[in-house]
Amino acid sequence: MRTSINQIKEMKSKSEKIAMVTAYDYSTARIIDETGIPLILVGDSLGMVVLGYESTIPVTMEDMLHHTRAVVRGTTKAMIVGDLPFMTYQISSEDALRNAGRLIQEAGAQAVKLEGGTTVVDKVRKIVDAGIPVMGHIGLTPQSINQLGGYRVQGKTAATAKKLLEDAVALEKAGAFALVLETVPTPLAALITQRIGIPTIGIGAGPGCDGQVQVINDILGSFIDFVPKHAKQYTKLYDIIKSALNDYQNEVVSGSFPTEKHSFAMDESILDDLKRSQL
Ligand code: KIV
Repeated sequence: MRTSINQIKEMKSKSEKIAMVTAYDYSTARIIDETGIPLILVGDSLGMVVLGYESTIPVTMEDMLHHTRAVVRGTTKAMIVGDLPFMTYQISSEDALRNAGRLIQEAGAQAVKLEGGTTVVDKVRKIVDAGIPVMGHIGLTPQSINQLGGYRVQGKTAATAKKLLEDAVALEKAGAFALVLETVPTPLAALITQRIGIPTIGIGAGPGCDGQVQVINDILGSFIDFVPKHAKQYTKLYDIIKSALNDYQNEVVSGSFPTEKHSFAMDESILDDLKRSQL
């Protein structure tokens, strides 16, 4: 059985911290699932770390379906949350529901995530009313990067802090089961966490949140274009992979790979006959 939204909500009531991480492919998802991490986000951050775009804006619904399917195939225990990409839910509630439904029905996700506060509550309500769990996402919302004017900490002024608290309360009322708080000051994230009944999942929002989410490439050190301040590198896969590839190339060039261990033998007599044949 996969993790349910009730189990995630229960973790908040028992003060158990929630770990969530992104995944975009089958093999990585398999490893994550074996660790028992209960929540996996197929984030539209794949636009940067997998597809090499500068932002999440070019990511399409087809991209999300493709990668969500792979992650679902690699897991049996974690709840898979699929991101709704830019322009798949902003125009109308009907669009939002249709595309949320695709992530659930065609890709096998158990929940969807979308960005925004009071402006998206009608969409959240529509999706939840159709039986699809929704995770909200406020603070630094990368799909609005052109409006925000850069990857900056959000909610530092009295007005913007109040707005984030209002957004959080509105999303809970609309039926969201959890809420991502991205790049907001630690004390504000802690206050929002106390004020709402659903779990807050922070990224760059300090230790006062109910859980944390990180981009897998950031914590494994495989994406080097930039390392966000909020990310801790638990290893440096970039160096490990590069060194292994250097070894591989050197061995191919020197002829020390492949050896007999990596090769296949055949019946000598068949080979002799073949050598004697006219062909
Ligand atoms: O797309 C993503 O990976 C996200 C997380 C950073 C929360 O939205």
